[in-house]
Amino acid sequence: MKTVLITGCSSGYGLETARHFHAQGWHVIATMRTPRPELLPVDDRLQVLALDVTRPESIATALQTCGPLDALVNNAGIGLFGAFEATPMETVREIFETNTFGVMAMTQAVIPQFRARRAGVVVNVTSSATLAPMPLVAAYTASKTAIEGFTASLAHELGAFDVAVKLVEPGYAPSTRFTANGEDRMRGLIPQVYAPFAQRIYSALTQVAAVTLESDVAEAVWRAVNDATGQLHFPAGEDAAALAARR
Ligand SMILES: NC(=O)c1ccc[n+]([C@@H]2O[C@H](COP(=O)([O-])OP(=O)(O)OC[C@H]3O[C@@H](n4cnc5c(N)ncnc54)[C@H](OP(=O)(O)O)[C@@H]3O)[C@@H](O)[C@H]2O)c1
Repeated sequence: MKTVLITGCSSGYGLETARHFHAQGWHVIATMRTPRPELLPVDDRLQVLALDVTRPESIATALQTCGPLDALVNNAGIGLFGAFEATPMETVREIFETNTFGVMAMTQAVIPQFRARRAGVVVNVTSSATLAPMPLVAAYTASKTAIEGFTASLAHELGAFDVAVKLVEPGYAPSTRFTANGEDRMRGLIPQVYAPFAQRIYSALTQVAAVTLESDVAEAVWRAVNDATGQLHFPAGEDAAALAARR
């Protein structure tokens, strides 16, 4: 039986990806900053572990507990919507700690076992913001674009050891906790002078015809983990697929 470890499973894309891999017969290690086992079925093939990707000791403890892995899904991430001018550098660093350095730290922690076994897949969940730039998400886009370059380079480096590294690029999902989870961080980041412009962007977001569903991301991660063609990019969701097609 194959084993996957997924970060950020307390809601949204990560939770649905955990359910999907479990339904496909995998052993799933669903990690969360604050474990909530009640979110997932009680089953021998499902293990809920505490893991904060910004804390090295938390990463080490989780990996010691869970045993050998076949796949790592770096899904945990935090959002930021606001004018860059008004965004404290402390907040920019906070975004990078989770979205960029957290992904790198998790990946570095599993490479030795994957390289030694000459097998394994790392899937990094970025964003459709990397496919087509949009305003008021400059720092967030930077944190995810860094992972796009990181993954493309690492895919070559680890390909030499038969280890795969993939990108899943989800579109906009109003149904996850992404916006609610970022509310405190985003407060005050739209100064008055930006308000009319920001209002137009908010309105456009509420009128989008195509969005991404949690199941789109779970299925894209599944395809990425099982891919045997060498494909690097897996846009997820109707909106992300349309943006990818325009590139
Ligand atoms: N929703 C969108 O529109 C959208 C679009 C494109 C890409 N994405 C990306 O998709 C991924 C999942 O987002 P989502 O929409 O499912 O949002 P979500 O519902 O907010 O889920 C994000 C998950 O990440 C976890 N997390 C945050 N910081 C963490 C940390 N330091 N260590 C471990 N886990 C942490 C959260 O856990 P807590 O419950 O502990 O906070 C939560 O489980 C993210 O990487 C996000 O950037 C989202």
